[in-house]
Amino acid sequence: MEIFTQTGGEMLSRWGHYLAGVTWIGLLYYFNFVQTPAFAGFEAGPRTESVRKLVPRALWWFRWGALLTLLTGLSILAFQERLTDMDYYKTPMGISISTGVLLAVIMFLNVWLIIWPSQKTFIANAEATATGGEALPNAATAARKAACASRTNTLFSIPMLFFMGATSHFAPRFEAVAGGDRAIYWVALIVLIVLFEGIALTAPAAGKGQAFFIDDHRNTIITGFVLWAILLVLWEVLF
Ligand code: HEM
Repeated sequence: MEIFTQTGGEMLSRWGHYLAGVTWIGLLYYFNFVQTPAFAGFEAGPRTESVRKLVPRALWWFRWGALLTLLTGLSILAFQERLTDMDYYKTPMGISISTGVLLAVIMFLNVWLIIWPSQKTFIANAEATATGGEALPNAATAARKAACASRTNTLFSIPMLFFMGATSHFAPRFEAVAGGDRAIYWVALIVLIVLFEGIALTAPAAGKGQAFFIDDHRNTIITGFVLWAILLVLWEVLF
């Protein structure tokens, strides 16, 4: 039975990766493109009700979907016997998956270290106000932090998915790329990531210049495609 071979293990991991990835990123897009803009138009009562009863359910699938995506992704690499093969990461294929994984791991950390803890405060605030208690003083700050990290994840998801798929379907070449070209690519990518993630971590107030890619989901999408285009140009020139 082929399913019990290394190829079968890799395919099962890929399948799990698709299911978990769709769950995670589907909910990310729901939060950013549907829920946040819709909540802005809700009355206070229905909004509090939704934050208490709908948001926790969505966040449960969201954060565990993120963990399963990470684990199944690592499992693909393990079945490919490439997890610790440093020569692989010098090839176009290896650089493509490293780009996707770097962006995805930052997104994963944003989910577990920023979005989920901040949303817990936000939900606790809705519980407190709905049951006649005092509003939590840090609720607005927590909501802003979560929004900034969530929009940044949406931005990163655009090039991330390209490079995930490009690994086998655009860049399957196994000759090592020159060290200097790799260095230019990684420095440029890391500078861009630090720039966007750094802004998100400072959670700038709405309307500030540096929040242009955070305050409106249309700007987030455009910025995501601009980041993808920059990386593609670098890719075409260097590799
Ligand atoms: C969280 C960390 C992640 C890791 C470690 C990871 C790892 C991987 C690996 C190793 C591959 C196989 C590349 C290949 O050899 O073809 C892959 C492919 C892929 N990943 Fe991820 N991934 C992660 C996150 C994501 C996310 C968030 C998504 C979003 C849905 C995603 C979607 C995909 C897709 C669509 C493919 C292409 C599959 C194919 O060509 O059959 N990954 N990923």
